[in-house]
Amino acid sequence: MSEATGKKAVLELDGKKIELPIYSGTLGPDVVDVKDVLASGHFTFDPGFMATASCESKITFIDGDKGILLHRGYPIDQLATQASYLETCYLLLNGELPTAAQKADFEVKVSQHTMVHDQVSRFYNGFRRDAHPMAIMVGVVGALSAFYHNNLDIEDVNHREITAIRLVAKIPTLAAWSYKYTVGQPFVYPRNDLSYAENFLYMMFATPADRDYKVNPVLAKAMDRIFTLHADHEQNASTSTVRLAGSTGANPYACIAAGISALWGPAHGGANEAVLKMLDEIGSVDNVAEFMEKVKRKEVKLMGFGHRVYKNFDPRAKVMKQTCDEVLAALGINDPQLQLAMELERIALSDPYFVERKLYPNVDFYSGIILKAIGIPTEMFTVIFALARTVGWISHWLEMHSGPYKIGRPRQLYTGETQRDIKR
Ligand code: ACO
Repeated sequence: MSEATGKKAVLELDGKKIELPIYSGTLGPDVVDVKDVLASGHFTFDPGFMATASCESKITFIDGDKGILLHRGYPIDQLATQASYLETCYLLLNGELPTAAQKADFEVKVSQHTMVHDQVSRFYNGFRRDAHPMAIMVGVVGALSAFYHNNLDIEDVNHREITAIRLVAKIPTLAAWSYKYTVGQPFVYPRNDLSYAENFLYMMFATPADRDYKVNPVLAKAMDRIFTLHADHEQNASTSTVRLAGSTGANPYACIAAGISALWGPAHGGANEAVLKMLDEIGSVDNVAEFMEKVKRKEVKLMGFGHRVYKNFDPRAKVMKQTCDEVLAALGINDPQLQLAMELERIALSDPYFVERKLYPNVDFYSGIILKAIGIPTEMFTVIFALARTVGWISHWLEMHSGPYKIGRPRQLYTGETQRDIKR
């Protein structure tokens, strides 16, 4: 637990003064401990958790005003350009970047768990072929809890660690299969001789008919970077969902399924898919001005813009834009949707409506364009986000379970009927 600063906030309620301790973290604003407000018969009220720190954490730090994102202290741009996704996973899970030996050992451990129990593959058949792959992911990841439950003791640190490895290892297999199922192709099994990103692209695009399928290294590098840029993002909606579900002692695979559900919404991870749909709807650069007027009339939202925390720029978006340029150049793609996207970005960054509201492109604005260039179908965009974020979710779950924790149980401001009697 962090130390109190010695500073206190004083709150006057019904004429009584309550002293509230203030705690300091290593970075970021101090927090006022409001627990004692309860004894005065009051709750605090903060819908959307705009000003509420729900937990203490050592994993990720964001300064939204300065556009800073640090994982275990390392800036996201350094990790995205100098470390692999699996090294970033190791960092998030363990607190330090791995040494060469630790890296090799971690890669072996992950590769040993990429297969799923054969019975898992049967779950897919229960879904309609036109099911959204995120719906499939919610189901199959949740279903893993049936395979790892009776013998899983979440109080045992070794059990928790192997759970994290299993999730990081199996999620690409489950994700790729959610695509294969919807296009009616046979599942492709993981290959342990490939890197994490290569293996995922291989399971997505190889078929038994094309035995020599080779993954394009430019695309594998871009994929790895997209994974890294989505690996964690502190107490966002899906991570908070995982923590809340985990706070009941629920099975961790079920908790991750809860995170996937929360991520799916268009205000969160579903935004990357929504960006491409929006670009499709706008159609051409000629229609941008009219679309922007609709946005200003609040008839539609500019998807891929705005963020609850980042109000100047999203540091992930910077690296993503650079990766986007690299991928499009390497593939020789001159995508008209990219021109459209650039025009939207240009207007949004100069129009007072967007400037005043601090609406900048977020990570999802560019990731959709790169994923499209890689050949990933739009409906898989959020699945890829879920794949990459699984390590963040499980790192937070591990952190929560490594010390004392309380069940998450918010209060409410009740505005319904007062007590009344049935009169017949
Ligand atoms: N397009 C147009 N206007 C917007 C947008 C947008 N994308 N986002 C916010 N605004 C406007 C709001 O209408 C509001 O205007 P007002 O002050 O006139 O009422 C103002 O900007 C403030 O917006 P809030 O909704 O209060 O901002 P909040 O922090 O609650 O929402 C959110 C953040 C949900 C991300 C929002 O910006 C949004 O819906 N963006 C589009 C979806 C998106 O890209 N989500 C991905 C987020 S990143 C991620 O999850 C990886």
